[in-house]
Amino acid sequence: MANYTTDTLPDKYHKALISWQKKYFHDLDYLADHWSDYYRQEPFHLMAKIGELRKPVIEVGKYKGREKFKKASEMDEEVLEACAAIVRAQASTELGSIQQHRESLHKAQDPKIQFDVLRIMAEEFRHAYQMVYVLASDNWTKGGKDLVSEVLEGLLSMETGSHVLDAFNLYFDSFVDNVTFAAIIDRVGKYQLTMQSIFSYEPMARSMPPMLVEEAFHLASGVNPLKTWASQAAEEKGNVSILNIQKHINKWFPRGLEMFGDERGGSKNIEFGFKPMKNLEAQELYVKEVQKEVVDVLNVAFVLTRYKSWTRQQASNLIHQILTSGEPLSGILPEDLLILPSVKFFRRRGIHAYLMSDIQGSLFQTPKEYEQYLRKNLPDSYITGPDFAQYLENLKKHYKGEEVKEGKLPFYG
Ligand SMILES: [Fe+2]
Ligand SMILES: [Fe+2]
Repeated sequence: MANYTTDTLPDKYHKALISWQKKYFHDLDYLADHWSDYYRQEPFHLMAKIGELRKPVIEVGKYKGREKFKKASEMDEEVLEACAAIVRAQASTELGSIQQHRESLHKAQDPKIQFDVLRIMAEEFRHAYQMVYVLASDNWTKGGKDLVSEVLEGLLSMETGSHVLDAFNLYFDSFVDNVTFAAIIDRVGKYQLTMQSIFSYEPMARSMPPMLVEEAFHLASGVNPLKTWASQAAEEKGNVSILNIQKHINKWFPRGLEMFGDERGGSKNIEFGFKPMKNLEAQELYVKEVQKEVVDVLNVAFVLTRYKSWTRQQASNLIHQILTSGEPLSGILPEDLLILPSVKFFRRRGIHAYLMSDIQGSLFQTPKEYEQYLRKNLPDSYITGPDFAQYLENLKKHYKGEEVKEGKLPFYG
């Protein structure tokens, strides 16, 4: 039995989201028609899910011990605005990811993996629906302005390139992007949702547990195909090389780090009872998890495909030796293995912004050298695109000591 109740949006908002779906996400109909070809679980339904609370009281910050806010009107203006901004940013990422996924969904070679990504898109759509529901179920009128209609209008008119978080402004060029995004960027989502399950505004806190269940599927749908590709690469089969996977990790991981917000910030989230951790603390846990659940898993899959009778421990030991010595061992080359980029690599926000660090954390001296390095270590399709051009322009400005204006990052993380 599901431990949540369900609800739908008032007609006006429901229709607005459906018309967005008709415009940007027609494949949702295909998902409904073919669900039972792939899954035994209950089919997808667009609805709000209201889950259980971890605790009825606010767990951190200046309201600690108080009952959670049931209504927006119980929050003072600063908290209310910050809360609305988080809900809006969350909804924006959900819709943004659908627009990205659809760019290269058709490039998938395997119908099951493709269908899994389609399901991710449907669930992200439900997450956006959920966030609109959080806003629409309460009165957020401020200074005579109806915040819900305003937010909804803004959300529904967004295109890739105008989202509030950078990771959702990057174009997907190949199906490797769909999958790497699920493994790396959805994992940030998991961290945000986990933290937000203590949220001081009760409807937001209740939204998190059902979303987290769906998020677990997204992460697995990212890691499993990567694992398959790494194993195929070990047998010199398949179409996705280790170098290609590495380049996609290099593209996405820095943007994932930045979704936690500036490394020096996050104290307001604790003060207002939104999240239990500051940005850096959460980001550090995330880094460890990407290492363990993505990079290590893929490297072990590669080695165990070559040496089928080995244990995981034997594989891990060999990987460690190869990566620390930089020398080939047992027929496996250092470049057969993936590495997690340094947190300083390819950054544009936070304490490491524009540091010109390589993947290992060593610094380059000039933008020219760094540009050459990045061109070799990022996907070919990405370095010819608009985001990379923008990055280089900003890097040169930063190097000359000019102020760089990255798009405004909302109160998120
Ligand atoms: Fe989501
Ligand atoms: Fe997700």
